[in-house]
Amino acid sequence: MTDQELIARAREMQKYAYVPYSHFPVGAALECDDGTVYTGCNVENASYGACICAERTALVKAISDGRRGGFTRIAIAGNSDGFCQPCGICRQMLSEFAPDLEILAADSRGRISRHSLRELLPESFNSESL
Ligand code: THU
Repeated sequence: MTDQELIARAREMQKYAYVPYSHFPVGAALECDDGTVYTGCNVENASYGACICAERTALVKAISDGRRGGFTRIAIAGNSDGFCQPCGICRQMLSEFAPDLEILAADSRGRISRHSLRELLPESFNSESL
């Protein structure tokens, strides 16, 4: 699957976002090394701290499907002028299962930024820190 195709899968998920508070729909598409793609959207709540981002929705779908690794790329699509990079909590959650993940963040104009998770979350706290 090309980067553009994975971004398209993320973009498609924006329509399912539940965002009555921020009005900022985000879609994510998490790819596995066997080609499976888990998608997600953000789901907000009147108790704001209970909101979940699109990236974590996709990740927990994968984990609850029995996946524990083999994640290759995640694409994230939002509607802002800048790139929709994953928040700190999502970086931490992703690093638990996919420390070598490639992160493709799209902006509203279709440009893509590409980073490794290690670049976005250096010196992370992980299982070896315990
Ligand atoms: N959000 C995501 O779903 N992913 C990101 O990468 C950034 C932020 C969501 C959380 C919240 O529902 C809304 O965007 C505004 O912060």
